[in-house]
Amino acid sequence: MKTLIKGGTVVNATGTATADVLIDGETIAAVLAPGSTLLGFDIERNVDQVVDATGKYVIPGGIDAHTHMQMPFGGTEASDTFETGTRAAAHGGTTSIIDFVVQYAGENILDQYNLWQGKAAGQCAVDYGFHQILSDVQDSSLTAMDELINEGVTSFKLFMAYKGVFLSDDGQIVKAMQRASDNGSLIMMHAENGSVIDLLVKQHLERGETTPYYHGVSRPWQAEEEATHRAIMLANLTGAPLYIVHVSAKQAVEQIAAARDNGQNVFAETCPQYLYLSLEDQLGASSPEWGDFEGAKWVCSTPLRSKHEGHQHHMWQGLRTNDLQVISTDHCPFCMKGQKDMGLADFSKIPNGIGSVEHRMDLIYQGVVMGEISLPRWVELTSTTPARMFGIYGKKGVIQPGADGDVVIYDPNGHTSIGVGKTHHMNMDYSAWEGYEIDGHVDTVFSRGRMIVDDDSYLGRKGDGAYFKRGLSQYLI
Ligand code: URP
Ligand code: ZN
Ligand code: ZN
Ligand code: ZN
Repeated sequence: MKTLIKGGTVVNATGTATADVLIDGETIAAVLAPGSTLLGFDIERNVDQVVDATGKYVIPGGIDAHTHMQMPFGGTEASDTFETGTRAAAHGGTTSIIDFVVQYAGENILDQYNLWQGKAAGQCAVDYGFHQILSDVQDSSLTAMDELINEGVTSFKLFMAYKGVFLSDDGQIVKAMQRASDNGSLIMMHAENGSVIDLLVKQHLERGETTPYYHGVSRPWQAEEEATHRAIMLANLTGAPLYIVHVSAKQAVEQIAAARDNGQNVFAETCPQYLYLSLEDQLGASSPEWGDFEGAKWVCSTPLRSKHEGHQHHMWQGLRTNDLQVISTDHCPFCMKGQKDMGLADFSKIPNGIGSVEHRMDLIYQGVVMGEISLPRWVELTSTTPARMFGIYGKKGVIQPGADGDVVIYDPNGHTSIGVGKTHHMNMDYSAWEGYEIDGHVDTVFSRGRMIVDDDSYLGRKGDGAYFKRGLSQYLI
């Protein structure tokens, strides 16, 4: 199958150009001046389909480097399967995800990795890779890290929170970091001080403060800043590259910026929820249906921060100054009925997570509309840097000859209304983004050369998406 995408504005992280994009089979064959011939051939006459992209952006497919499809967590399982979650991703212009293999204490890493490969195989609408979660850091986990690199798993997530579930103590963290420093892999960190949070949670519950609002209050920015600083120091001690996930506090960004100014290999992502949503407006919300439990829809960790403390402004600034390099979703959806409602009487029993995999490209495009970031920066934050950070750049994250034909045609003059019953393909009974009106629209999505979404219709098949082996990070200094 040969496709010519004609007359669009090709947007890469490096800039924009009006160009035609020729996809041959699964791969981009050429990026050409509009109307060019190729060695005398009239290209348009020699392709199977021509798609007119005049007036539209032609961008590399989005890469969501932080998702949790069907993750067993909080006494339940994330409600999107690899099938439903990746189909929703495709609708939103995301053509690659990197999900997390889960290891709870006592479990064997390689067994878990094989289990996750089995869960995803034959299910996905878009291409996928894995990070590996390490909880207890057993000796066998360290050798497994080396083995997983050969399998294309080159990043390992540790948690400084969720005691008894995921938390690794500082000694365990240092052991994993020493190994990462030796084998060249990347350590990803959930940076919140778990002991402090556990104490504050207990104290709020004892005072009868049980609503979702107190989820936010019991995970203060100081707990994020402290853990971020500690993670940076442990990485400094061991020489391991460090990537902080789901950053929400401006003070954490300042720690990251200082480490980067110091020449350390420290990187970070934030997520759409930390750019738009707040402690007061979401965690503190009430509704006729759910009363003051409405806020459960937005219970995630790190939590939404107070709108009075300047965090959102600082996140956008960090995205401009490259103190934050990536935007992922941390997609971890749970339904209100039967999942989030486990915490009706106790916010600490609400499964943690928000679902956004479908809306990341649209939501971050609003940053371009609002003048917070440039058009190439939108592509860089959502596709190019995730590709470089996690070792898939060249194949993914760029429109250039030789890259996979993962291409999105995005209409800046289109419109997208987010909400259940409107655009909603995620397997959730609510949308964290209900009522958001988006300037822009994902018109057409190609995954390795196949058109899988056109004008809101899904044209792909379950199992189209293939596992990609990742190399070591291409972003280290
Ligand atoms: O609330 C969240 N973030 N749930 C997913 C697990 C994690 O910590 O990333
Ligand atoms: Zn986390
Ligand atoms: Zn996560
Ligand atoms: Zn639409």
